[in-house]
Amino acid sequence: MSLDVIILAAGAGTRMRSALPKVLHGVGAKPMLEHVVDTARQLNARHIQVVYGHGGVAVRTVLAHLDVMWTEQGQQLGTGHAVAAALGVSPLAPLNPGLPPVNAHDTVLVLYGDVPLIGAETLQRVISAAQDNSLGLLTVVLDNPRGYGRILRDAHNNVTRIVEEKDATDEQRQVREINTGILAASSEKLQKWLAVLDNNNAQGEYYLTDIIAMAVRDGVKVVPVEPDSITETLGVNNRMQLAEAERYYQRTQAERLMLQGATLRDPARIDVRGEVSVGTDITVDVNVIFEGKVVLGNGVRVGANTVIRNTIIGDHAEILENCVIEDAVIGRHSRIGPFARIRPETVLADNVHIGNFVEIKKTRVDQGSKINHLSYVGDATVGRNVNIGAGTITCNYDGANKYQTVIGDNVFVGSDSQLVAPVTIGEGATIGAGSTITRNAPPGELTLSRTPQQSKAGWKRPAKKKDSGISSG
Ligand code: UD1
Ligand code: CA
Repeated sequence: MSLDVIILAAGAGTRMRSALPKVLHGVGAKPMLEHVVDTARQLNARHIQVVYGHGGVAVRTVLAHLDVMWTEQGQQLGTGHAVAAALGVSPLAPLNPGLPPVNAHDTVLVLYGDVPLIGAETLQRVISAAQDNSLGLLTVVLDNPRGYGRILRDAHNNVTRIVEEKDATDEQRQVREINTGILAASSEKLQKWLAVLDNNNAQGEYYLTDIIAMAVRDGVKVVPVEPDSITETLGVNNRMQLAEAERYYQRTQAERLMLQGATLRDPARIDVRGEVSVGTDITVDVNVIFEGKVVLGNGVRVGANTVIRNTIIGDHAEILENCVIEDAVIGRHSRIGPFARIRPETVLADNVHIGNFVEIKKTRVDQGSKINHLSYVGDATVGRNVNIGAGTITCNYDGANKYQTVIGDNVFVGSDSQLVAPVTIGEGATIGAGSTITRNAPPGELTLSRTPQQSKAGWKRPAKKKDSGISSG
């Protein structure tokens, strides 16, 4: 038996009120449709087909990297029509030439691009429920079932059919068990049923849900399956539900990190928008955002209000409050911040200290060096055990080109110095405070450029004129 997954994603998503197609809206910064594809990938399916329509070009462009089959549904005539398009069922839909031949024992699983949190374990149970003579249907019982298709059962509690809310009687609307939309069935039978669907209903649509009654008529048992958690089946139709899905997703991410040994001061105040891997005994304070691929070594501490993007942080490094770190490598036992900005292509070796109001860009800083206050270091290499004083600036840009600053091991740069690149400060050199260095500084020597200090004896500070009686306003 092999499995094919069909993901329905052709709907307009009108209630999002957005120029962006609904399924491209992100949860944890990843498009909802990509979440569903990634989950489907875990099921070892032979094919994953995405039925797209509205905003089709944008969807295919943004998600071009996904290894899926794309089926265009030109007109959105209903969920049954969409699945028929994917399966190439005639005459409802034109035959899809890219499709493999159907095997009597193949199973089809139907998913939705706007149900992003569905879990692989739940789906595995839906798939297992679908045998040659049974169909798996994911249902949940809701306090407020409004808007959903209702599951109707007979006196023996067997599922008999689904009625859409708009077609339901008042009595049927009292039913709180609803159709999540997710189902699995034999592809051969599905094709047979879809071929005879009609649209004689309140919405004039070809309802996928109508196949339930057909299955029962054909003696195929409908097996209801419950999800591991009801939150998995949350469908996103508007931005309130999108925010709700985001919170559930973030809760799951936080729980995963805690189970892996991270202490989160408040699991509700951390956001993971990408993939974070953690060592043991990590502590993360509140309002921290991780983006892209982030690796945190053992014993790393991250202070409040910090954003870390695509960065590797070595064991026992400490990121203090209010830092922004992007595309960087931070060495072991280093200490960053508070209020530091580490920009792309920065590599800090072990035991480096970067302090408050320091910006580092495209720079390599070797072991044990310190840049502790109010500095800009860009396009530079900094050797070992260097001390860069407060207010030091590498002048790397002449308005057209960028130039390198090379600082040797054991250099001491006095405060408020400007190093005008391209320039090299030799090993062990000392730069006097307040210097503007425009030529290479030799190793081991003191180099300084400074206007001589003078004092004027008897000089008087100008005094304000005596009050003339006219208000100065
Ligand atoms: C559908 C179910 C309903 C269920 C609900 C769960 C049907 C007839 N009804 O209703 O029983 O309770 O989902 O959320 O199936 N789509 C297409 N092409 C189309 C129509 C829809 O790709 O022609 C896609 C949409 O993009 C969406 C999904 O199918 O992802 C569901 O469509 P929607 O119109 O929202 O169905 P509901 O009325 O919510
Ligand atoms: Ca819907």
